[in-house]
Amino acid sequence: MLNVQNVTKQFGKRNQKITAVKDVTLTLQENEIFALIGESGSGKSTLAEIIVGLDRPTHGEVRWQATQKVQQDQVKRVQMVFQNPDRSLNPYWKVKDLIAEPLVLNWHSRSEAYKRVDELLDKVRLPKDLRERRPSECSGGQKQRVAIARALALSPSLLIADEITSALDPKTEEEILQLLLALKREQRMSILYITHRLDTILGFADRVVVMKDGSVIEEGYTDIVLNQPKSEYTRALLSACSYS
Ligand SMILES: Nc1ncnc2c1ncn2[C@@H]1O[C@H](COP(=O)(O)OP(=O)(O)OP(=O)(O)O)[C@@H](O)[C@H]1O
Ligand SMILES: [Mg+2]
Repeated sequence: MLNVQNVTKQFGKRNQKITAVKDVTLTLQENEIFALIGESGSGKSTLAEIIVGLDRPTHGEVRWQATQKVQQDQVKRVQMVFQNPDRSLNPYWKVKDLIAEPLVLNWHSRSEAYKRVDELLDKVRLPKDLRERRPSECSGGQKQRVAIARALALSPSLLIADEITSALDPKTEEEILQLLLALKREQRMSILYITHRLDTILGFADRVVVMKDGSVIEEGYTDIVLNQPKSEYTRALLSACSYS
């Protein structure tokens, strides 16, 4: 579906360059959950922002395969949900306005957009009476569901979830993972799931890429990478989260 081809991203000036992403090549397939794993600073968010089009690579490119529509549709095809809903959701808006906004911005009429809100709340398993609430009146898990509903409004082919469960308790985290699994099936979309917690992705992600210092260290089917890790680094990540 999408090829990341030799992508490198550098920040900073001439003599103080940081290479956040180093020559990363990977392919995302249709209808799969792809996990991006690595410790803090390994370049996961930078790579995600390049894929979603919020940033441009220094070298290399992100290419959609021929079945997908042209470049200017990128905003609709890839949507991103961020770690902190308090920063990504405007606290003064009601849930219905937050979810309707991407539709209104993309030329849907207001009445049509508000009609879709209930349907989108339903998709993320939230009750309709949440429509009139503001983010501060929702729980952490509910806020991330609102952020997911907003991301789904334009029916993306790819949803990028960047550490979206890191502020949630284990039970709520598991519920969000189950929701993403169900959405993958129902919407036939792919999900790029970013986390530093290797132990949450077994039985969830189809494939995984392990990153370190901007480079891909290991890649493969999740059960194989987790059960027979090839690199010392992956083994260290696994023992750090006491997976066995
Ligand atoms: N806008 C920027 N300007 C300068 N350096 C940056 C910028 N964004 C990221 N970096 C640097 O690039 C490297 C990779 O950062 P990135 O945020 O992609 O890591 P990450 O894997 O998402 O980490 P975390 O798990 O903490 O979210 C880090 O060294 C970071 O300091
Ligand atoms: Mg990050």
